Amino acid sequence: MKAIILYDSRTSGGSTEAVVDSIGLGLAECGYYVEKAKCKANADFSFVKEFDLVVIGAPVYYFIVASQLLGALIHGNLKKCLKRKKIALFLTCGSRQSLAAVLYLPQIKIHLIRNKILVEKIFAPEALSDGTVDSFVEEMLLEYTRTPKSRVLSAKWTDEAKECFQSMPSFMQGTFKTMAEEFAEEMGYTEITLEVLEEARDRLGAT
Ligand SMILES: Cc1cc2nc3c(=O)[nH]c(=O)nc-3n(C[C@H](O)[C@H](O)[C@H](O)COP(=O)(O)O)c2cc1C
Repeated sequence: MKAIILYDSRTSGGSTEAVVDSIGLGLAECGYYVEKAKCKANADFSFVKEFDLVVIGAPVYYFIVASQLLGALIHGNLKKCLKRKKIALFLTCGSRQSLAAVLYLPQIKIHLIRNKILVEKIFAPEALSDGTVDSFVEEMLLEYTRTPKSRVLSAKWTDEAKECFQSMPSFMQGTFKTMAEEFAEEMGYTEITLEVLEEARDRLGAT
């Protein structure tokens, strides 16, 4: 299995790089082939396609997630190259978990609404010594193996979901079906239920 850790930081040898190295070590100890890459907004991220697991992390400076990572997601081809990838997210910052989860994580997650986020974590400066990085890696690997990598073409629609689909005007059914199946595939769902359709609507803005 191959994992890539994509990160950003202004600080060479700072806390984010220390967390990146610790995650890398944890994954390598579990048998993963691991690479890390520091994000540049205008870089070509095509290489990401060859990795099974993608870890994305960055610090927060002045209330904004580090700019090269955000730039790569907004202006570069990173988002496109992350299609169908299972992702683990982390931030390093000085704010409380609850605040960071509301203020900072959404700055990244808004660009990954079609991805399966295995686990997300806010690391405080003491993260390396208190074991939270180790538990992040454990959780990530557990979720990775738990999430099936199935093609939704083999996934089943429940009767309720099928009924909902069939109640739509016929000219909308094709688009709706494709969108729902693609969403389920990206999220690793093997069954399309009413809940899956609602989640797709909420996350993709479908009506
Ligand atoms: C200039 C500067 C601005 C920062 N602004 C914030 C902030 O707005 N919110 C926050 O929670 N942490 C903030 N921090 C704390 C950093 O996010 C935290 O120390 C992080 O671990 C730094 O990562 P690095 O060592 O890779 O640079 C700031 C740190 C610096 C140096």
